[in-house]
Amino acid sequence: MMQSDDQFKKVLSHAKEYGFVFQSSDIYDGLSAVYDYGQNGSALKNNIRNYWWQSMVQLNDNIVGIDAAIFMHPTTWKASGHVDAFNDPLIDNKDSKKRYRADVLIEDHIAKIEAKIDKEVAKAAKRFGDSFDQDQFLATNGRVVEYAAKITTIQKRLGQSLEAEDLADVKALIEELEIVCPVSGSKNWTEVKQFNLMFGTKLGASVEHAMDLYLRPETAQGIFVNFLNVQKSGRMKIPFGIAQTGKAFRNEIVARQFIFRMREFEQMEMQFFVRPGTQKEWYETWKEKRLNWHLSLGIDANNFRFHDHEKLAHYADAASDIEFKFPFGFKELEGIHSRTDFDLSQHQKHSGKKLQYFDNETQEHYVPYVVETSIGLDRMFLAIFSNALQEEDLGDGNSRTVLKLPAILAPTKVAVLPLVKKDGLPEIAQKIVDDLKYDCAVEFDQKDAVGRRYRRQDALGTPFCITVDHQTLDDQTVTLRHRDSMSQERLPISEATQMVIKATSLSDWLKKL
Ligand code: GAP
Repeated sequence: MMQSDDQFKKVLSHAKEYGFVFQSSDIYDGLSAVYDYGQNGSALKNNIRNYWWQSMVQLNDNIVGIDAAIFMHPTTWKASGHVDAFNDPLIDNKDSKKRYRADVLIEDHIAKIEAKIDKEVAKAAKRFGDSFDQDQFLATNGRVVEYAAKITTIQKRLGQSLEAEDLADVKALIEELEIVCPVSGSKNWTEVKQFNLMFGTKLGASVEHAMDLYLRPETAQGIFVNFLNVQKSGRMKIPFGIAQTGKAFRNEIVARQFIFRMREFEQMEMQFFVRPGTQKEWYETWKEKRLNWHLSLGIDANNFRFHDHEKLAHYADAASDIEFKFPFGFKELEGIHSRTDFDLSQHQKHSGKKLQYFDNETQEHYVPYVVETSIGLDRMFLAIFSNALQEEDLGDGNSRTVLKLPAILAPTKVAVLPLVKKDGLPEIAQKIVDDLKYDCAVEFDQKDAVGRRYRRQDALGTPFCITVDHQTLDDQTVTLRHRDSMSQERLPISEATQMVIKATSLSDWLKKL
């Protein structure tokens, strides 16, 4: 494993060099916190989205998918609370004139204390070797316990002051923690103020008659306003879910950490409608199901943790984040929220239309409660990509860069390589490509020496390479090379291709869920 800072730099450069992610409008020096996905990035992103969609919509007979518009009637956002309450607390440093999210400054301070804990753990692990018990160390080491208590106190205070909208106390906390501006190094802060994150735009041809609209800051509201349309047309019975993926927009103040926090991003959300009173059970169920989904991709469980919210959003009666260990520390990857009947009741009130469900079992009409799972596709991309990118020491001074993506997510599943550009080998390789392309994403590559081609495919995350050589002319066998182990086996062409198709097809992975 590379060190965190180095690893993050490597993630950025690798993403660009190998056609995964580019800064938007690069030739004009870019647009901050907006990114484009390249030829390999868009394939990886599609594959993640598809895995999420299949596991939600195809595997669950009580979940259906929709695709609502980005533009919505402006009253939607009044009803949802976004016009009044979708704010971030901002603070400016008077010397550098830089603007920060006050809560993020405090979270960064917490991350520094967490880093100190990590350092103590690493030191102790080295000292005690195999007999090291991390859990016991965390619970008993005086210094670590003190750091952990400090973190809890800060989190609690921040949660309480944000909950009470006590912005003066948020500033007081920044001062007490002696947080300095990362640019000027000074503690010369302004008051903390609220700032609405929605992007406004206009609909209509003339200025006088134009209607003020917002670009949606979450996809969820497109599901809520369609609740009855879907329930009735699909004859859905509670409990049931509606899933959706799509773009969302937020005028984020802290625009850094690459695709972690973007101004235009994509969400994958599912609203699960339940009988009032059963929401706690469903909330726990969905927390577990979503963690299992992440683990099904083969990522080490130590990279995930739940963070139950102290401060609840205006619509929630319980909320938890699945946090992932990004190169810059544990951060939110997905939210699971028990949203009560807040959204449907609000839309009922603002639209004047009943949004109720008749429950045949209880013979009652009610506004359903909702448990939501909401994950950022771009954040999931970053989690998968940064976890997969590894620098491997091969001994004798050799190393390789390899992107160990789960096979079902890899942009290209197999590269077919003729050993040389002559003697009929390219033709055989091309025939294998032509046969395989109906089943999976396949690439033909004949440029450079075969060793360099293997390295390039490793860096792109391609799980298999099939090499055609002179022996293929005689006995119709090829070499199948495995990305992770670098092992090679000699197989008849049809066996090699079947093996690739099986290892990269979704169905076996979905069965693990
Ligand atoms: N409908 C609930 C909702 O939108 P959220 O916690 O604000 O909740 C859900 O967002 C997820 O969307 C987050 O866990 C994160 O993965 C992703 N997300 C939110 N803001 C983002 C941003 N600016 N850039 C990238 N992803 C973002």
